[in-house]
Amino acid sequence: MKSSHGMKNLCIAVLLVTTVFLWGGDSYAADRAELAGIIKTIPPNGPYWKYGTLEMRRRTKKAGMAAVVFAHWSHRTRYTCRVCHEELGFSMRSGDTGISRAQYVAGKYCGACHNGVTAFTVQEGTVRHCDKCHVKETTALEKQFEAFAKELPFANFGNGIDWSEAIKTGAIHPQNALTGEKPILPLPAKLKVPMKLGTAAPRSDVTFSHEEHYFEMDCSACHPDIFNIKKKGTKAFNMENNIYGNYCGVCHMRVAFPMTDCKRCHSQMSGNYVPQ
Ligand code: HEC
Ligand code: HEC
Ligand code: HEC
Ligand code: HEC
Ligand code: HEC
Ligand code: HEC
Repeated sequence: MKSSHGMKNLCIAVLLVTTVFLWGGDSYAADRAELAGIIKTIPPNGPYWKYGTLEMRRRTKKAGMAAVVFAHWSHRTRYTCRVCHEELGFSMRSGDTGISRAQYVAGKYCGACHNGVTAFTVQEGTVRHCDKCHVKETTALEKQFEAFAKELPFANFGNGIDWSEAIKTGAIHPQNALTGEKPILPLPAKLKVPMKLGTAAPRSDVTFSHEEHYFEMDCSACHPDIFNIKKKGTKAFNMENNIYGNYCGVCHMRVAFPMTDCKRCHSQMSGNYVPQ
């Protein structure tokens, strides 16, 4: 039997193809043609299980080990972004952390959890788990994804999972600190009001919610490296740069729902873009 997730998939795909995608207005015709060219550079979504799943092979090849396969979808159900990207110091730029075996065996990075207590161990021993991370065949991981995604709210793109909804409805409860619960301090009142971003282009209004993001990460995930803290202070902040993986695209092209999902950021747009 086909999973309900698979069925929903099919319906939504059909629906999307027939959705009219416009943000018209004749005075923007030139911009529109240019932007249409840019939008076309959004890569196809690929299989849901693969979105946010990293192949790490900087050091493995030379060592004669299979590449390491790290799935964001399984880890983010257990931990907020904060735990790995702030507490444990993983970079949000792939390959940047430069993880070595010596480091993780000493309890850093993956080894902070893969210690035989929280999760299977990285250590040598009578039972070796090397091939759980150094993976040649991803079939088991794909199966694990199918079973897992079935239970979660659906979204059109990315993992095919609406992660915000999953958290709001309590379908997942990522923990916010490596050991125990760290309370999330209240946001300053000013930042509780969603900010209006957007340009003069029709229907480009974006509502950005600090609160929505603060649940998963600290201020330093975005300020000052990605965004200026002054409203409208971010330079060359446009779709082209987003799609190239800057600004919102740092996360929303790789781990959080991707740029194809126009409507989730631009509530006034009538549809989404389906790469051919
Ligand atoms: C269990 C740990 C863990 C959690 C939780 C986690 N990440 Fe990551 N993330 C990683 C690791 C490991 C890398 C790869 C780092 C490297 O290669 O140097 C990574 C890389 C990334 C990248 C770069 C990906 C690419 O393709 O270039 C982004 C963006 C990212 N994470 C965002 C997030 C966001 C957003 C969340 C929360 C929803 C999150 N991560 C939660 C461990 C984690
Ligand atoms: C914050 C804790 C934490 C960190 C950091 C972490 N993991 Fe995990 N990981 C877990 C837990 C918990 C499980 C599930 C328990 C188990 O399988 O023993 C898991 C499961 C896995 C699995 C099994 C398949 C899956 O995704 O469920 C793989 C593979 C894996 N981790 C790889 C990695 C790699 C590679 C790194 C470092 C780049 C890493 N993990 C960092 C906690 C962590
Ligand atoms: C929890 C996941 C995990 C487990 C379990 C694991 N590794 Fe790794 N291993 C990694 C990661 C992550 C890297 C770095 C990948 C990269 O960026 O190239 C790595 C890299 C390596 C490297 C090359 C890096 C270096 O510093 O030389 C060797 C060799 C290696 N692992 C051996 C092993 C052996 C042997 C085992 C089993 C006893 C094992 N690994 C178990 C995650 C894991
Ligand atoms: C996910 C990314 C992200 C996170 C996390 C984040 N911010 Fe922001 N912040 C933004 C963006 C985007 C803007 C608008 C920048 C612009 O308009 O150029 C902004 C603007 C601001 C502004 C200016 C608001 C105004 O109305 O003038 C302040 C102040 C601010 N952030 C503080 C914070 C604080 C404090 C935190 C942590 C509690 C935080 N931010 C976390 C993305 C983020
Ligand atoms: C993750 C959020 C996000 C998604 C998804 C997204 N956008 Fe944007 N978009 C933005 C932001 C942020 C801006 C710039 C806002 C600013 O300058 O203050 C923008 C700007 C725009 C503009 C104004 C002109 C320009 O080039 O900047 C247009 C038109 C636009 N987006 C179209 C789209 C279309 C079409 C899609 C779907 C294929 C899409 N956007 C998906 C966040 C998003
Ligand atoms: C550091 C990572 C990061 C950055 C940068 C970031 N986001 Fe997000 N955003 C997330 C994560 C994680 C979620 C949770 C949903 C998911 O993963 O799909 C989220 C959720 C959202 C949601 C909520 C969607 C819903 O349906 O409730 C919107 C809207 C959004 N982001 C817009 C933006 C815009 C616009 C920007 C740029 C101004 C931006 N984000 C920058 C990580 C990020």
